[in-house]
Amino acid sequence: MELVSGEIRLRPFRLSDADKLAEMANNKKISRNLRDGFPHPYTHEDAITFIRHCLEMHHDTFFAIEFRGEHVGNISLSPCGDVYRKSAEIGYFIAEPFWNKGIASAAVNMIVQFGFTSLGLMRIQTGVYEYNPASQRVLEKCGFVKEGVFKKAIYKERKLWDEVRYAILNPEIQ
Ligand SMILES: CC(C)(COP(=O)(O)OP(=O)(O)OC[C@H]1O[C@@H](n2cnc3c(N)ncnc32)[C@H](O)[C@@H]1OP(=O)(O)O)[C@@H](O)C(=O)NCCC(=O)NCCS
Repeated sequence: MELVSGEIRLRPFRLSDADKLAEMANNKKISRNLRDGFPHPYTHEDAITFIRHCLEMHHDTFFAIEFRGEHVGNISLSPCGDVYRKSAEIGYFIAEPFWNKGIASAAVNMIVQFGFTSLGLMRIQTGVYEYNPASQRVLEKCGFVKEGVFKKAIYKERKLWDEVRYAILNPEIQ
């Protein structure tokens, strides 16, 4: 599955992405905004493990983001289970040299549309750490609604932080 809009392409991972992925992801300014499962330092081995996992388990919901043909980041939908099965958690990052060019906002819009129309999702959600205004801005630009703040829910870098929860609903149910 590939999704294309203008200069942005969301495509499946390939093992040959590992070098570039490790180079982009090995950045504290990225890992500090993500779950601890996204390691720092981020090695070539970590990239291979991640890509293998995507290819085996998530081939239709985890994408490499290309901008003008270059791999510049990752974006994913992780469907929730049980009674949350119509919801999914969105996650993304963009390599630092490509920040503030509108790439994350474009990719989020594309994957949200795909989640609603092709996967039948009714709700897409995520939590942003309080010190990450850029990601909060991306979600707001893409129509996500700030639903609440989970006080001191995050333990990162040996401190407690608030988590700002965002969601967007499938327009079919609004
Ligand atoms: C958050 C992230 C994905 C944004 O990617 P991006 O491609 O730069 O995003 P966009 O260019 O589409 O939009 C960024 C917006 O944030 C704004 N912004 C950037 N830094 C900001 C700051 N410090 N304070 C407030 N707004 C900020 C930009 O001005 C832009 O808004 P605008 O279009 O209204 O001017 C990228 O910074 C990143 O990968 N960060 C590390 C990983 C991460 O945070 N992932 C998300 C976890 S929830």
